[in-house]
Amino acid sequence: MSYRERIGAQLADLKLPGAMEALDGILARIDGGELAGADAIEALLGSQIELRNQRRLQTAMRSSRLPAIKTLADFDFTFQPSIKREQIESLHQLGFVERKENVIFLGPPGVGKTHLALSLAVATAQGGRRIYYGSLADLIDSLEEAQTSGRLNQRLKTLTYPALLVVDEIGYLPITRNGAMLFFQLMSRRYEHGSTVLTSNKGFEEWGSIFGDDVMASALIDRLLHHCHIVNIRGNSYRMKNHTELYKTLNYESEDLQTHGKTTRTRRRKETATT
Ligand SMILES: Nc1ncnc2c1ncn2[C@@H]1O[C@H](COP(=O)(O)OP(=O)(O)O)[C@@H](O)[C@H]1O
Ligand SMILES: [Mg+2]
Repeated sequence: MSYRERIGAQLADLKLPGAMEALDGILARIDGGELAGADAIEALLGSQIELRNQRRLQTAMRSSRLPAIKTLADFDFTFQPSIKREQIESLHQLGFVERKENVIFLGPPGVGKTHLALSLAVATAQGGRRIYYGSLADLIDSLEEAQTSGRLNQRLKTLTYPALLVVDEIGYLPITRNGAMLFFQLMSRRYEHGSTVLTSNKGFEEWGSIFGDDVMASALIDRLLHHCHIVNIRGNSYRMKNHTELYKTLNYESEDLQTHGKTTRTRRRKETATT
């Protein structure tokens, strides 16, 4: 039996399909002198880990309500200079999840708050931990629904269980007093129990009016901030980046219209004249 056959049989025995899939390519690179020794072992094991992480993410996507897969690799730091790259990279090492700390992304619309919250959730899922995603409004809706049907405790448990919960879009939609109380209960349960990543377009000083109650909002902020990393993003909307380009194009077009407008108008008048 050749090396290839023996290693292939071992990988099959251990049920490592990712490594098996990569084996031929890695052996070819070893033959080609591109890869040797420990690098080859690392590449083989790395292929298996990649497949496992991919599967973990697929499983998480089915149950976590994650709206999209966003990654740190897709994030353009040059567009958002107010963000400290080292801080974001360090958060993606997920020590904060182990320590059950929170992360809050604050900033105006389009600066990448949801993107970074999602990429932290993706990394957590790939690490094999449970995640869950919801906008504040959706989470409160689900809590109110559970309350009406007498299953609030169950729902609170479900939302307390994940190692990482994303609470997106605090401040976009008004919430009822009952909704605010339910959310407060959820955050009290999660406090020192699991990490929560929150995003808001409003500063903390405005959270009182979002939650309709200054006292509750400050008790909430107090718990959230106890073990917390705050990422304040000051910058332009990434969505507007494309719009700015579009806007420029439109502007050029309207300039074109201005220069050609006369002829168009004259032509139109002529057409009217003939009909
Ligand atoms: N710095 C960036 N690099 C790459 N894509 C970005 C960046 N910032 C935002 N985006 C993208 O722009 C869109 C809007 O960003 P999002 O995270 O939803 O903004 P926010 O939640 O702050 O309103 C998303 O599709 C996101 O992936
Ligand atoms: Mg957002």
